Amino acid sequence: MDKIIVRGNGPLNGQIPIAGAKNACLALMPATLLSEEPLTLTNAPRLSDIRTMTQLLASLGAEVTALQDGKVLATSCHGEINPVADYEIVRKMRASNLVLGPLLARLGHAVVSLPGGCAIGARPMDIHIDALSALGAEIELREGYLHAKAAGGLRGAVHEMRFASVGATENFLMAASLAKGTSVLKNAAREPEIVDLARCLRAMGAQIEGEGTSTITIEGVDRLHGATHPVVTDRIELGTYMLAPAICGGEVECLGGRIELVESFCEKLDAAGISVEETERGLKVRRKNGRIRAVDVVTEPFPGFPTDLQAQMMALLCTAEGTSVLEEKIFENRFMHAPELARMGARIEVHGGHATVHGVEKLKGAPVMATDLRASVSLILAGLAAEGETIVSRVYHLDRGYERVEDKLRAVGAQIERVKEDT
Ligand code: EPZ
Repeated sequence: MDKIIVRGNGPLNGQIPIAGAKNACLALMPATLLSEEPLTLTNAPRLSDIRTMTQLLASLGAEVTALQDGKVLATSCHGEINPVADYEIVRKMRASNLVLGPLLARLGHAVVSLPGGCAIGARPMDIHIDALSALGAEIELREGYLHAKAAGGLRGAVHEMRFASVGATENFLMAASLAKGTSVLKNAAREPEIVDLARCLRAMGAQIEGEGTSTITIEGVDRLHGATHPVVTDRIELGTYMLAPAICGGEVECLGGRIELVESFCEKLDAAGISVEETERGLKVRRKNGRIRAVDVVTEPFPGFPTDLQAQMMALLCTAEGTSVLEEKIFENRFMHAPELARMGARIEVHGGHATVHGVEKLKGAPVMATDLRASVSLILAGLAAEGETIVSRVYHLDRGYERVEDKLRAVGAQIERVKEDT
C-alpha cells in the first residue's frame, strides 16, 4: 500500500486540469446494459473505481475498452448477459448497485448483491427498492442478494422518493427509459451527475424531461440506440483543488471548472475570504486578503453544500480565524477525518452529526491515516500548509476518486511525493 508524503511549502501557483466526474461516469457506464449498440464515453476519469466498474460490467457480459490512456471508454453489451452482480465485486464499490435498474429494464430480472456498509455509513438500498418496485419490479432479499424480476417488463408509474437519493434516481431513470408508458419521479435528486446521465440517455433515444429539478418525467421507449457522450466535469475534484490555494495562499486556475457546478460551495468560500474568478478556461482561486474566516456549513442534497466536500472544507477551517460548525446531514459517520486532523494540532469537537472547529494558527505535520476517499484528500490539503512533514497512509482510498493527485499538486508548487509503503 502506497503512502503520500506532503511538506508545507508556501503558496501554490499555476493551473490544475479537472477530470471528468467519477460519480457521473459510474452511472453512465451501466447505461451500456440498456442497448445492444455501443456507448462511447469521452472525458472519462482514470480512477480505480472506473476499473472496478469495468470489471463488474465485464462479469455481466458487457465489454468496456479503455482507449486514449483511459480517457475514452468504448462500451457495448450485445451478447449473452449474466444477470448476477457478484458480492466479491459489489462489496468493493457501492456504485455497483447502479446495474440493478438497467439489468431489470433489459432482461426483466437481476440478482445484485447488497453492497454492505462502508466507512461512512450503512448505505441501505430501501429507496432504490421502493423506486424500482413502483415500476412493477418484484424485489426480495435472499442471502445478501437482491433478487429482482419484472416478468411482463417494467411499466411506467408516478413515484415520490422519501429522500432525494442520487443512486436511486439514477436506477429509476435508467429503468423507466425502457418501461412501458410514462413515469414521473418526484423528489428526484438534482445533482449535475443526474443531469449528465439524462443527457446521455436522451442521446441514446430516451425521452426524459425535467432533469436537474425535483420532478423528472420519462416516456418509456421500446429500445435505445448507441451514442457518444462526454462525461461532465468532476465538481468534487474541482472543489477539492479550489481549496489548495485557499489553504496555502497563491493563485490556482482550475481548468474546466464552472461556477454552476459549485455554486453553494463558492458562497461559503466567499464568506471565508476566498475569491473565485471565472476565466475562459475555468475558475481562478486565491485568498482575498489575510487570514481565512470561520464559516458554518450544513451538507445537503444538490444544490446545497455537497457532503463530498465537507471533509476538505474542514481542512480549510482548521486554521480559520474563529469557530466553525459543520453539520453532516447526508451520512451518519462522515467525520473520521477529524481525529486525524487533530493529530496535526486541529481543535475539533464531534458530537453526532455536528463538528465544531476552533481555528488554530497553524497545523503541524504528522503521520495520519486515510479512512475514506474524501477524508484522505482532506489530510493532504491540511498537509500542504502544515509545518513539517505529513505522511498519509492507505492512499488506495485516494486513488478511487483522484487522478494522480501528487502530480497535479506538484505542478503548482506543492512538495508532495508518493512512496511505496513497506508492507
Ligand atoms: C452518491 O452516493 C455518491 N456516489 C456519493 O459520493 C455521494 O456522497 C452521495 O451520492 C450523496 O451526494 C456516487 O455517485 C457513486 P444517496 P449514493 O443514495 O447514491 C441514504 C464519493 O465520495 N440512503 O444520495 O449512494 C444513504 O445511506 C461518494 O464520491 C438510504 O437510506 O448516495 C445516505 O445516508 C461517497 N437508502 C443518503 O441516503 C437508500 O436506498 C444519501 O445517499 C439510498 C440511500
